[in-house]
Amino acid sequence: MRYHDLCTRLENESNTWLITGVAGFIGSNLLEHLLQLNQQVVGLDNFATGHQHNLNEVQSLVSREQWSCFTFIEGDIRNEEDCKKACSGVDYILHQAALGSVPRSISDPITTNAANITGFINMLVAARDAGVKSFTYAASSSTYGDHPALPKMEENIGKPLSPYAVTKYVNELYADVFSRSYGFNAIGLRYFNIFGKRQDPNGAYAAVIPKWTAAMVSGEDVFINGDGETSRDFCFIENAVQANLLAATADESAKNEVYNVAVGDRTTLNILFDSLKEALAESSVVYEKEPVYRDFRPGDVRHSQADISKAASKLGYAPEYRIREGIAKAMPWYLDHKS
Ligand SMILES: NC(=O)c1ccc[n+]([C@@H]2O[C@H](COP(=O)([O-])OP(=O)(O)OC[C@H]3O[C@@H](n4cnc5c(N)ncnc54)[C@H](O)[C@@H]3O)[C@@H](O)[C@H]2O)c1
Repeated sequence: MRYHDLCTRLENESNTWLITGVAGFIGSNLLEHLLQLNQQVVGLDNFATGHQHNLNEVQSLVSREQWSCFTFIEGDIRNEEDCKKACSGVDYILHQAALGSVPRSISDPITTNAANITGFINMLVAARDAGVKSFTYAASSSTYGDHPALPKMEENIGKPLSPYAVTKYVNELYADVFSRSYGFNAIGLRYFNIFGKRQDPNGAYAAVIPKWTAAMVSGEDVFINGDGETSRDFCFIENAVQANLLAATADESAKNEVYNVAVGDRTTLNILFDSLKEALAESSVVYEKEPVYRDFRPGDVRHSQADISKAASKLGYAPEYRIREGIAKAMPWYLDHKS
């Protein structure tokens, strides 16, 4: 109930939010929800991996009046001035801009580092100087690295397995040091494999659900890295939106912390393959091929499953969608957007 109460409260309040990475998958979903709650939103993006068509789609889903509450800044978090401009006059920041993908970071660690670490500290400084009410940032389950324990609890992390994981861990370290040094208390959300509409199915670094769904819809091969028993805690986007809104408006006692954002389930890639096939069959799309198994991918964690009790108790987070419900909700979008 807490999330629904919050939404009702927000609808009757005027707040200004900044979403960095607003033209990306998670950012554009946050934008859609906040505009539907009649909030003022500033968005920052350099279109490195985000798309104008994501913003256009949000425009088509909100009223004209709600869309007029959105201000877009094309800019780069690696540029301090762009960060300052974006933070000016803002109440709540949802910092999503970064270069995702483990393999991208392995092939180009310098560019990933610049966006994810230099860009992050630029945003922290700009947010601190602008005196915002809160700064919520996208952390990552990759921070658990080689720690074997399942489910993952926030305090038990291992060594990072990729440059991307290093950058996301450094975000957490900087956020913590900003609390000690300046009393600026951020909140990190360690996302676990978020999926849903507007997640890019294209390119070498696409995430597994949009990539496989697109391949199935067009009758192409689906590749499984490893034996298919690698597992993940797949989390539907609406759960991640909920976590962001709760975190941004949480009281001080919940700040300067990191929280798992997931469902608390574990699904193997083999089961995911079957689930996507079944969901497509319900929309009369029949995929008859078997998956093609290939080598494990370097840098990938073998198993991932979150303990979400900290987010539940301190933020009131209660995910409303499990993987199958999320897939069912996302499928019409994938089918409408097949290339
Ligand atoms: N999707 C997931 O499962 C997942 C899991 C863990 C963490 N995350 C984190 O969540 C955040 C959002 O991820 P996403 O899945 O929406 O990815 P995305 O690639 O769709 O969105 C990222 C956005 O950031 C923008 N961006 C990148 N570099 C920028 C820069 N230098 N300046 C301004 N904008 C820049 C991109 O153009 C894009 O629009 C990222 O920080 C990512 O690391 C995502």
